[in-house]
Amino acid sequence: MRGRLITIEGIEGVGKSTNLAFVADRLRAAGCEVLVTREPGGTPVAERIRGLLLGAERLAAMTELLLMFAARAEHLEQSIRPALAAGRWVLCDRFTDASYAYQGAGRGLGAAPVATLERLVQGDLRPDLTILLDAPPEATLARRAERGENDRFEREALAFFRRVRQGYLDRAAAEPARFRVIDARLALPEVQLALANVIETFIEENTISE
Ligand SMILES: Nc1ncnc2c1ncn2[C@@H]1O[C@H](COP(=O)(O)OP(=O)(O)OP(=O)(O)O)[C@@H](O)[C@H]1O
Ligand SMILES: [Mg+2]
Repeated sequence: MRGRLITIEGIEGVGKSTNLAFVADRLRAAGCEVLVTREPGGTPVAERIRGLLLGAERLAAMTELLLMFAARAEHLEQSIRPALAAGRWVLCDRFTDASYAYQGAGRGLGAAPVATLERLVQGDLRPDLTILLDAPPEATLARRAERGENDRFEREALAFFRRVRQGYLDRAAAEPARFRVIDARLALPEVQLALANVIETFIEENTISE
């Protein structure tokens, strides 16, 4: 079976990182070889770009977008494409939908420059499945506060995260075949039950179609 790219998306504190290992375990239990990774980052150079992106310095919105795709280009070449080619499944904490949601909707650049860079950097490569953990920012604020120091994105106002959330929901509505939306306000066991169902169904569909 060829490898598949699965991405997990959502605003800060919805539980992406918390659920990454859970999803990876379900995939491995089904016999998939899994690479777990994240964006921005995933390679040494891309992790250095992540440092710039999350650091304290001011960045123009377009700089932010270009750095995201610079990191993504590196990540794709060094890690994601080789893994998929070798038949491994790639599970990524955020990917290009985050660029649409944060830089496109949140920062107000719009979808057009993101789509241009997506074509340039990724060619035809798109996630096979995208899990959107959805919750209003009010619901995840407390969770984020418990983690202490905030990065450059986390210091943004509620209005910013409302735009980002809406950006994600618009993406999901436009591509219902690729997206699965899970209510991230639910307690963790319920979120994981929903995740397990999504993964099980996706594996079944992708095994049958081979
Ligand atoms: N369903 C849930 N109910 C309650 N708390 C949760 C739930 N899911 C995750 N958490 C808690 O919320 C906090 C944030 O979760 P996590 O770090 O996984 O979010 P994230 O989406 O990766 O955020 P970021 O985008 O900032 O990396 C953690 O303390 C985690 O334990
Ligand atoms: Mg995280």
